[in-house]
Amino acid sequence: MLIDRFNRKITNLRISVTDACNLNCFYCHKEGYCVKGSSPDVLSVEDIAEITKAFYELGIKKVKITGGEPLLRKDILDIISVMPDFEEISMTTNGTLLDKYAYELKDAGLNRVNISLDSLNPETYKKITGGELERVLSGLESAVNAGLTPVKLNMVVMKEVNEDEIDDMLEFTSKYNEDDVRVILQIIELLKLPELEDYYMDISSIEERIAKKAINFRIRSMQKRKQYHLGSSVVEFVKPVDNTEFCYNCNRIRITKDGKIKPCLMRNDNLVDVRGLKGYALKEKIFQAVNMREPYFKKKSREAR
Ligand code: 5AD
Repeated sequence: MLIDRFNRKITNLRISVTDACNLNCFYCHKEGYCVKGSSPDVLSVEDIAEITKAFYELGIKKVKITGGEPLLRKDILDIISVMPDFEEISMTTNGTLLDKYAYELKDAGLNRVNISLDSLNPETYKKITGGELERVLSGLESAVNAGLTPVKLNMVVMKEVNEDEIDDMLEFTSKYNEDDVRVILQIIELLKLPELEDYYMDISSIEERIAKKAINFRIRSMQKRKQYHLGSSVVEFVKPVDNTEFCYNCNRIRITKDGKIKPCLMRNDNLVDVRGLKGYALKEKIFQAVNMREPYFKKKSREAR
């Protein structure tokens, strides 16, 4: 088990497999992403096999495949197939290519997907992403049918763009959940970046409104996130990383698309290159990276041991 100096157990790995994306979301915070073709320096299937094996042996339970858009990798099925037997392998995708791949992804060993879906209005969807809503909806349908569930729908709320669609989204997701929870709505607060100021809104008021009507909730481990059950819809609220609790509960570690361990979401100055390493040399670098972990937002009263 990987445990850092702040006694945080590291159970979740996020691995970026490409920087390419076929959409162009205006709010996307992934600097240098949304490139047309994939960079030449992305990890190979073999690299990914080695890295995930090492993390598996060190006690990682869950892996999330991210991008860019992971489904743009022609070898995405191989990438999933070479991963060890984690408790859960999931993927964050924009859903536009899911229709084609859902069943094969499931067969390869993918357990579930997060799909980015900010609007149910084709024009609004196009304005936000540049893409076709239709494709995402059929992707979602296939994902549910293939059992890549529970699917989480990521909805980033933006002032005067889609803030009026919360109830539509609840209604839409509830249709999938009549006898089981297949689709969970994640309402996500937009990052408060200077260039996004016009669109930023606090999601607390939405959460309060839902909480009043909700029949039940539970607290999830890392972000102390609440889950609300409202009829047959299930909703979670995701606030940006702005509080110390988030850091002190952090159980994640990341791998960049070019094979560097990223000990902290908020930093790029302490990456550890592990590409090409195997066995003990690889594990040693992993320990090194884990040792670099420290809460980005610190509490005054708690010190490292
Ligand atoms: N603010 C909040 N979330 C964002 N995402 C991307 N950019 C932003 C941003 N500016 C998240 C969304 C999206 C996923 C791929 O990344 O949840 O669905």
